[in-house]
Amino acid sequence: MEVIITKDYDQMSKVAADIIADQIKRRPNCVLGLATGGTPVGTYKELIRRHKEGKLDFSKVVTFNLDEYVGLPVTHDQSYHYFMHDNLFNHVNVAPQNVHVPPGMAPDIEAACAWYEQEIDKAGGIDLQLLGIGGDGHIAFNEPGSSLASRTRLKTLTEETIKDNARFFEKESDVPRFAVTMGVGTILEARKLLLIANGKKKAKVTAEFIEGPITSQITATALQLHPNAVVVLDEEAASELKQRDYYKWVYAQKPKVAEAVKA
Ligand code: F6R
Repeated sequence: MEVIITKDYDQMSKVAADIIADQIKRRPNCVLGLATGGTPVGTYKELIRRHKEGKLDFSKVVTFNLDEYVGLPVTHDQSYHYFMHDNLFNHVNVAPQNVHVPPGMAPDIEAACAWYEQEIDKAGGIDLQLLGIGGDGHIAFNEPGSSLASRTRLKTLTEETIKDNARFFEKESDVPRFAVTMGVGTILEARKLLLIANGKKKAKVTAEFIEGPITSQITATALQLHPNAVVVLDEEAASELKQRDYYKWVYAQKPKVAEAVKA
């Protein structure tokens, strides 16, 4: 796992946008997996800025979002469908037919989950999956105890997630209790993973998922199983990592390593 420690949220967002932009430039018709929540807002702003400057073309990009609340219509301003349009899709030239968000209002959720998995397969799999991490260590809505082989399915949210996400709703009781989420197994099939985290609140769980044992109690630890995972942190989120200085040293050596590989 590559760990990149940046000085603050803005730098974290820029580095994450660099990685995504690089993916789009290398393969303009790439398949991106996308996340919602507070963390990626700065990354999306940066991608929008680059698009508006004419430096980034989304016209052939295909997207799949990680998750969606069950029971919120797409017009609800807290649905992840709405969030993605508001924070990214409405501001770039992505083709509407290339955008996929898990269906949280499907009459048959199980069938809808199977359909979502098929759509990812049909698109050729995900090239780059953007992730955040929940306070309880979840990736997407894979709450503690989720199988590390799980596929897209309905999950019941933990009390911690409901409390964390209450900040986006008028009151805690408005937060949906269920979500449709890609599974950990689905996420691990992406060719590259990019997890971003910032702030002191994420420091403990960040240290646990990078340096602790792999466990379904902290589903982000599954990133340790992936051969091509990058984690971009700000100083605060990185503050409890034991090997913090080593990760910084490795990052600083990167240009030299690239030279050595070329020679
Ligand atoms: C959202 C998602 C979640 C969030 C996580 C962190 O699509 O998959 O796993 O990434 O809950 O949320 P924030 O960024 O709001 O701290």
